[in-house]
Amino acid sequence: MPENKNLTPPRHIAIIMDGNGRWAKNRGLPRTAGHAAGAESFRKIANYCRTLGVQYLTVYAFSTENWKRSAEEVGGIMKLLGRYLKEAIADMEKNHVCFRFFGDLSKLSPDLQKLCREAEERSGTYHEVQVNFCLNYGGRDEIVRAARTFAREVAEGKRQPEELTEELLSGYLYSAGVPDPELIIRPSGEKRTSNFLLWQSAYSEFVFMNVLWPDFGPDDLDEAIAEYHRRNRRFGGV
Ligand code: IPE
Ligand code: IPE
Ligand code: MG
Repeated sequence: MPENKNLTPPRHIAIIMDGNGRWAKNRGLPRTAGHAAGAESFRKIANYCRTLGVQYLTVYAFSTENWKRSAEEVGGIMKLLGRYLKEAIADMEKNHVCFRFFGDLSKLSPDLQKLCREAEERSGTYHEVQVNFCLNYGGRDEIVRAARTFAREVAEGKRQPEELTEELLSGYLYSAGVPDPELIIRPSGEKRTSNFLLWQSAYSEFVFMNVLWPDFGPDDLDEAIAEYHRRNRRFGGV
């Protein structure tokens, strides 16, 4: 029995869902097969978070840099997202999962944008667990947008530059109203943030794991949570 079964899980867990391509390559499959397997992992982990009582789950699905990949791979991911979101909407009604999207959705196809909006609207009143799905998301892009919005309000005379505080700036981010993640998990063996939640991760605990995302299961989440509980969070104090 994992040691953390009786410990309260973090309120907000964030995951960089990485390693789909390597998982597929190891099996001699096309990269898209890895993304399909990764979508299944996400479904399992989102359900497990609900069981554990995690309130917010933020997942990195597609970054502002991922457009650099081949048209074939990007197209495959977008197709998968369309199919996946339709299923997720049905699932979510059953499980009372609230969906939010972080990222610049305007670069997605009109159909996909419509699905995202529909998922947000239909699940807005659910409170079992909130899934923040990061799509065409970049931490730097998010901060630039926030700065731009604030600058516009100053130019329009609605705000004074001196009014800007950390709290106010947080309110301009995609994550407005969502507490910062206590725990950020990156599977796949890479040890970097790759532009994920740059502002929100100021005091997050990072857990890097060697498992590839399509192989990531509830036991791995238990292990990450156990590691989180072993950490001594000081927030700059002693
Ligand atoms: C993460 O898996 C999914 C996306 C970035 C869309 P990768 O596709 O990055 O998998 P690896 O890192 O190449 O194994
Ligand atoms: C980060 O993974 C983005 C997602 C998992 C969606 P990448 O595979 O794009 O990151 P790098 O290229 O290894 O830094
Ligand atoms: Mg990767």
